[in-house]
Amino acid sequence: STTRRFEFNVKWKNVKRLCYTKSILTVNGEYPGPTIIVHEGDHVQVKVTNQVAMNTTIHWHGIRQYRSGWADGPAYITQCPIGFGKSYTYKFTIVDQRGTLWWHAHFSWQRATVNGAFMIYPRMPYPFSLPVQDEIPIIFGEWWNSNVMSIEDEMILTGDGPISSDAYTINGLPGPLYSCSLKDTFIRTVEYGKTYLLRIINAALNDELFFAVANHSLTVVEIDAVYTKPFTTNAIMIAPGQTTNVLLTANQNPDSTRMFVMAARPYLTSVFPFNNSTTIGFLRYKTTETETKPPYYNSTKLPKNLPAMEDTNFATNFANQLKSLASFQYPCKVPKKVQKQVITTISLNLQDCPANETCKGYLNKRFSASMNNQSFIRPSISILESHYKSLKSDVLFSGFPENPPFPFNYTGVDPVKENLNTQFGSRMIVVPYGTTLEIVLQDTNFLNPENHPIHIHGHNFFIVGRGFGNYDPEKDPLSYNLVDPPERNTVAVPVGGWAALRINADNPGVWFIHCHLEEHTTWGLATGLIVLGGNHPSQNLLLPPPDFPTC
Ligand code: C2O
Repeated sequence: STTRRFEFNVKWKNVKRLCYTKSILTVNGEYPGPTIIVHEGDHVQVKVTNQVAMNTTIHWHGIRQYRSGWADGPAYITQCPIGFGKSYTYKFTIVDQRGTLWWHAHFSWQRATVNGAFMIYPRMPYPFSLPVQDEIPIIFGEWWNSNVMSIEDEMILTGDGPISSDAYTINGLPGPLYSCSLKDTFIRTVEYGKTYLLRIINAALNDELFFAVANHSLTVVEIDAVYTKPFTTNAIMIAPGQTTNVLLTANQNPDSTRMFVMAARPYLTSVFPFNNSTTIGFLRYKTTETETKPPYYNSTKLPKNLPAMEDTNFATNFANQLKSLASFQYPCKVPKKVQKQVITTISLNLQDCPANETCKGYLNKRFSASMNNQSFIRPSISILESHYKSLKSDVLFSGFPENPPFPFNYTGVDPVKENLNTQFGSRMIVVPYGTTLEIVLQDTNFLNPENHPIHIHGHNFFIVGRGFGNYDPEKDPLSYNLVDPPERNTVAVPVGGWAALRINADNPGVWFIHCHLEEHTTWGLATGLIVLGGNHPSQNLLLPPPDFPTC
């Protein structure tokens, strides 16, 4: 197999959007960042050099990192940050994965601008029948006119939520629905009759998005670098952290309309002042007329097939249609039985305001977030390193509660009364090598206007069940899908509901589990999974690399 080498220089770059010029953090001066293209089975080496006077790390979102947890990237979970002037080379192998993933900074809110696509080409032909004639990468993001890096500091200082972004973007471009943004519009030329593979990545920080293209349907073929049973839809829904590959055939009459609007808008925005705007771009059909004028817009009307905000029916139906391909060549490896089950709440909370402070959160309290009553705090050492060297025993990090602190009922109760009194901690779920694990995530329905996209590092999981209301440990497992459940790395847990995940815990290391809404990670909606080494040397972590950053 081939070794592919990349150089990432983290540096400032002046970028102008919405009439504001500001210095943003980038990789190699690019925004969005460079695309990594590799093949299944390749060895990958990315030398990251930090040229800015602040810490950074890079995470390869969705890459399994089999036995190479040293290269996973979340700050203080698997590594100490890369300091100013320092380099660290992330080394890993692409094992049994193919499709679209992405990479992003995993320190503070740096991922707002430090992100890019990660494409893994398959060794075998695509398992779907339509021919892919070209590709269109589509990365959704959020743009702030103000300094993104101070948002987290401000949240910690005031106990309040973050300020909302000033625009959503498609490949870094907000589009003509925002003021002063006509020139910053994503336009992609397509040819009549061709089929395109859209590689869609939601790199937005705080919003799930709907996406549609006027007059065109989309055929979903892959999610989170796992093939799905193809299905055709008018629109998709995608949570932060998730990736979705769809096929689009350019089948419209190029002479009547040349420009077709593509648009993305958030799912739920009603409770707090989130950004409820829409980003658009265009598919432009190539015609024979010679072009003398710059591209024009026939219309900036939104596609009729774009779901309205708060369209929970669409969200539910879309999620229900996602199924693993589960073919002979790509079998679904969902564990049929489990050795351990963990049921955990995922909750937003309010904490009393410390005396002599003013807190700007709801009811003059501080916002926080928790899983089973623990609001996660990152230690000042790398948990993986301390686990590996047994510097401190795992006791420090083990002992995540296996059940909610008291029997839960989160439907129709007084949410303020039910609000758990959270405690800070860094406890994680610890399992022996090879454990078949089930994790049930239960939203407590408090203060929460949208699905929580929960992401697990180092392992894919199978979403065997999901539903609204309270999880019923007697009844709900009876309707689990153990045949072709969707396999992915990030699940949107339904608002006011639950999701049951099954995992083959076969990757030794320390793996962050967190909500991929950045504000919720800041508030502590996280824990981790520690998978111990096995009896055989091949079931253990590789050695830490010599240039591994120290704290
Ligand atoms: Cu995409 Cu821990 O993150």
